[in-house]
Amino acid sequence: MTAKQAQPGELDPIETASRDEISALQLDRLKWSVRHTYDNVEPYRKKCVEKGVHPDDLKSLADLAKFPFMTKSDLRDHYPFGLFAVPRNKLARLHASSGTTGKSVVVGYTKNDLNNWADVVARSIRAAGGRAGDMVHVAYGYGMFTGGLGAHYGVERAGCCAVPMSGGQTEKQVQQIMDFKPEIIMVTPSYSLVIAEEFERLGIKPEEISLKVGIFGAEPWGQGMRAEIERKLGIDAIDIYGLTEVMGPGVACECIETKDGPVIWEDHFYPEIIDPETGEVLPDGEEGELVFTSLTKEAFPVIRYRTRDLTRLLAPTSRSFRRMDKIVGRSDDMLIVRGVNVFPTQIEEQILREPRLTGNYQIVLTRDGHLDNVEVRCELQRELSGKLGRGVIEEIARGVAGHIKTIIGISTKVNVMDFDSIPRTQTGKARRVIDQRPKQL
Ligand code: DLL
Repeated sequence: MTAKQAQPGELDPIETASRDEISALQLDRLKWSVRHTYDNVEPYRKKCVEKGVHPDDLKSLADLAKFPFMTKSDLRDHYPFGLFAVPRNKLARLHASSGTTGKSVVVGYTKNDLNNWADVVARSIRAAGGRAGDMVHVAYGYGMFTGGLGAHYGVERAGCCAVPMSGGQTEKQVQQIMDFKPEIIMVTPSYSLVIAEEFERLGIKPEEISLKVGIFGAEPWGQGMRAEIERKLGIDAIDIYGLTEVMGPGVACECIETKDGPVIWEDHFYPEIIDPETGEVLPDGEEGELVFTSLTKEAFPVIRYRTRDLTRLLAPTSRSFRRMDKIVGRSDDMLIVRGVNVFPTQIEEQILREPRLTGNYQIVLTRDGHLDNVEVRCELQRELSGKLGRGVIEEIARGVAGHIKTIIGISTKVNVMDFDSIPRTQTGKARRVIDQRPKQL
């Protein structure tokens, strides 16, 4: 690892530009992006027509507030490619993430999009203190999830050496880190602690581990978790933010010299904070729902995409761009379990594939050490209750857990209970999720 603080010439010029220069670039790009979307994405054009707005109405950055939002349900309604703005033969890659139903959300990238993505991830790695010549152990999952491949191409773009380890196989992760001696690790915060515990089990001390920096994201993590990771691995822990719909990892990333919240790469992603109830734009510093408009994306542009993530925008510090505060929660019922996005309704769907079970269920989340545990409580139909043998009940539980694992990708402990064991709602709203995990501070 070389210098922590970026030296002159190591940053993209726009990272240190004046606010006027940034706003001028944003307005140019915003005009292009809104028109590109209007012209090529029919469902969005329809929304604009219904709202009575046209790309010509966009004369200032503030005019963006007149335009309609895009939401996850738009993506679901137009699954798989209905919101793409380029023909299929211009696509260079697809990625996906779980949606509110069994169907995932599919996004596409052109060659230019992949190029810009690699650039912003490379910029994120430099913000985290990485420099050309460093070796980066990538333990985000490779595949449809944007984490692995998104990080990977950014690592290469930064002139670093990628170790494409992907997730899982903790013992092997640790052995490779000891053998290859990477300077940087990119992984979810919760999994980094599992790796740290394996080091501990082997009696390897933080000072014997080559890692200097970790770049962590894909799930909420607080300052307490940061301190624990830094202590256990002997590194600086940096926060990287992103989401599939907007690009993947690298929409924003913290700088190692300040560690004061991810800097939003505002030359590619225009942020707004809105009141989640009214949709009204809130001033910087106020907490609300984060909304993004892509400024350069060709294949899958998003205009005012509602992330559901709750945070606030903060004034620039180590770069000219604004920062975001740590995500404090979400305005929908999406759960993030071991980095996997899960909606309770997805679990419900899998339970209901088993006709011997009712639709009454509860999901109990606990944290054992650093990993999330999920218990799914469900109930036998009244007529079968008390009549089935242990073996049959276990077979039902195994079946449901198997479906959840295959379709949603998380391991759960399914507990099949007698009819009426789960409390019924008294207020009209069922309490599906009991989250007993300690809050991230
Ligand atoms: O998690 C992309 C990513 C990969 C980001 C690797 C960072 C590192 P999705 O699977 O679509 O994409 O999940 C996006 O994860 O809306 C947030 O709720 C949450 N999230 C992502 N990064 C952070 C973070 C990837 N740094 C959803 N802090 C987002 C808190 C985060 N939450």
